[in-house]
Amino acid sequence: MPTILAIESSCDDTSAAICKDGKILANIISSQKVHEAWGGVVPELASRAHMKNIIVTVDMALRESGIAREQLDAIAFTRGPGLIGSLLVGVSFAKGMAMALGLPLIEVNHMQAHVMANFIDQTPSFPHICLTVSGGHTQIILVKAPLEMELIGETLDDAAGEAFDKTAKLLGLPYPGGPLIDKLAQLGNPNKFKFAEPQINGYDYSFSGLKTSILYFIQKETRSDLDFIKENINDLCASIQKTIVDILLKKLTLAVRENNITEIALAGGVSANSELRKRFQDLGNNNNWKVHIPRFEYCTDNAAMIATVANYKFLNKDFCSYDVEPLARYQISKG
Ligand code: KG4
Ligand code: ZN
Repeated sequence: MPTILAIESSCDDTSAAICKDGKILANIISSQKVHEAWGGVVPELASRAHMKNIIVTVDMALRESGIAREQLDAIAFTRGPGLIGSLLVGVSFAKGMAMALGLPLIEVNHMQAHVMANFIDQTPSFPHICLTVSGGHTQIILVKAPLEMELIGETLDDAAGEAFDKTAKLLGLPYPGGPLIDKLAQLGNPNKFKFAEPQINGYDYSFSGLKTSILYFIQKETRSDLDFIKENINDLCASIQKTIVDILLKKLTLAVRENNITEIALAGGVSANSELRKRFQDLGNNNNWKVHIPRFEYCTDNAAMIATVANYKFLNKDFCSYDVEPLARYQISKG
């Protein structure tokens, strides 16, 4: 079994992990604080921060794992999807290091890696369905084998994470708003306010209408009470969170039932949400479905999940050439 260094740089986290014999020995994540002041990720600033962080992040992963460069068998990296400038930093670094050490390169699809975060300390069986919910994506994936996946549903507009972040912004909360909504919602009443759910066919999602209806609702209420948001912040967060989780689980349930699946997995940054984790587990328990939810550190962007895909690819001798390019768009194939 190989020893692999994996690098993740698709968005605003620089991460490096070491995987040996299929086990994660280190998973270092350097988050970029520079975006907070701008209310969202600024691509140019993200690329520059990756440049600054990447050497020290890789160095820390090697030191923490006790693995010397000479012991590595391959270098893996996120090829896409993501911000092109951010991806270029990770891809170029991986190429340079692989060339210097004479090692093979392994390219990894970031969305496939989110799904496979569930393979790090669990062993899901096949087929199962994974709900991937992140800042950029909302996908229902039919997982047939470790590297064999089919996209059967996705968002037509905003991602679930964007729905959290954009509505948080409407409430005056700083970026990223998802974790803050989660925190404030714990003190609120989820049934206080009702927001309309989208009517979309099949397993696809839409979140842009929800954002607009929340905007109109807040505009209406603040016209008669300037302190409406302040007075109701916890109930607003709890109600918004409940609506997003309701929407997510309704389509997931439909997909699982119609495909006769009995095992479900959760992935992506929004799977750190405590309400989603709880209700996902309850959904499984109530239907007798086996449930997989990654540890918190494997939910948001991390290189351990990249290393996990790379480990399977190494065993298949699935290496890429040194002139490989990053891909801003890199879809899992549609069913
Ligand atoms: O997977 P991820 O780290 O990055 C992308 O690839 O997009 O996901 C980041 C997203 C952000 O939208 C953030 O607000 C959301 O995950 N998020 C949460 C929570 N923690 C992170 N959303 C709701 N509740 C949370 N606890
Ligand atoms: Zn991600």
